[in-house]
This record gives sequence, structure tokens and C-alpha cells, in this order.
Amino acid sequence: MKIAVCPGSFDPVTYGHLDIITRGAAVFDKVIVAVLHNRNKQPMFSIDERVHLLKQVTSHIENIEVDSFNGLLIDYVKEKNAQTIIRGLRAVSDFEYEMQAASINKKLGPEIETFFMMTSNHYSYLSSSIVKEVAKYQADVSDLVPVEIADALKEKFKVES
Ligand code: PNS
Repeated sequence: MKIAVCPGSFDPVTYGHLDIITRGAAVFDKVIVAVLHNRNKQPMFSIDERVHLLKQVTSHIENIEVDSFNGLLIDYVKEKNAQTIIRGLRAVSDFEYEMQAASINKKLGPEIETFFMMTSNHYSYLSSSIVKEVAKYQADVSDLVPVEIADALKEKFKVES
């Protein structure tokens, strides 16, 4: 069984992430979407909230599992008996970080491959940070995230303000 892990912060999940997750699920037997901690980012949603939202928006795809992990990605991939890491690439600006991450993951787990997929063109500008920035000012984010996420963002900013 070909198992892939699609890791990320997903703070929150966007249509760009869903594009990669959905296309990954068409290639692999099982895709485990894993919420992991990115040391460079201060999250808005808790891990539990992110997992819950991801489950809501991927529930229609049979071969997707949503999970979280606190530790090194490569340890998680091995623990899950997965062979592959899937990452989306939006632009050249993603490349340097992704190359570093893929290289260190290859060093820590030479048997694990990282697969890169180009995000579909119409989502190449999209990021969780941009979505949060727009949602903060109560602007319409319905083209950027599923309705469940837009509602969760509204709720978050209501609580915060
Ligand atoms: O969505 P993001 O923030 O680009 O995802 C980055 C993430 C969470 C996949 C990365 O930071 C990660 O793998 N974190 C776990 C710790 C780890 O394994 N670090 C070494 C590889 S960068």
C-alpha cells in the first residue's frame, strides 16, 4: 500500500492545500494529512481546531486520514509506515525552504522520498497568512477557503476583537 504524508501547519487549511491534498489522494492509496508544528510560525488555531477543520473539509475523500504530531516529520512518516512526503510548491520563493527541508529529511530518512506538486495556477498566490490577513478586516474569503474555514475565521476574529 502506497502511503503518503502531507504535512503542514494548516493554520487554517486553504483551497491551495486542498488542491494538493485532493490530487495527492488520486495518486496514493492513502494520504495522511498531518498537522505539525512549524517553529517559525505562531499559530492562530490550536492543533485540535486545525485537525477538526481539516476533517470537516476532507470528509468526502475516502482515502484521507487527518492526524497531528509533535516532533520531527521524518519520525512521524516512519511511524506511519509511509514511504512518501507530499509538499506543494507555489512559487520560486517556496523553493529554498523546501529544498532545505527535503534535504534534511533525506538525510534523516534516506528511504523516504519527498514528492513536490505544483499548486494549481489559480492558487499560486494563496497562503494561510494571506487568508488570515484578509479575514481580519472582515473581507470576503469565500474564494480562498471552504465555508467552514471562513466561519471559523469569523468566529476567531470576533473573539479577538
Ligand atoms: O505548512 P508549513 O508551515 O509550510 O509546514 C512546515 C512543516 C510543519 C511541514 C515543517 O515545519 C515540519 O516538518 N515541522 C516538523 C519538524 C521537522 O521535522 N523539521 C525538520 C524538517 S523542516
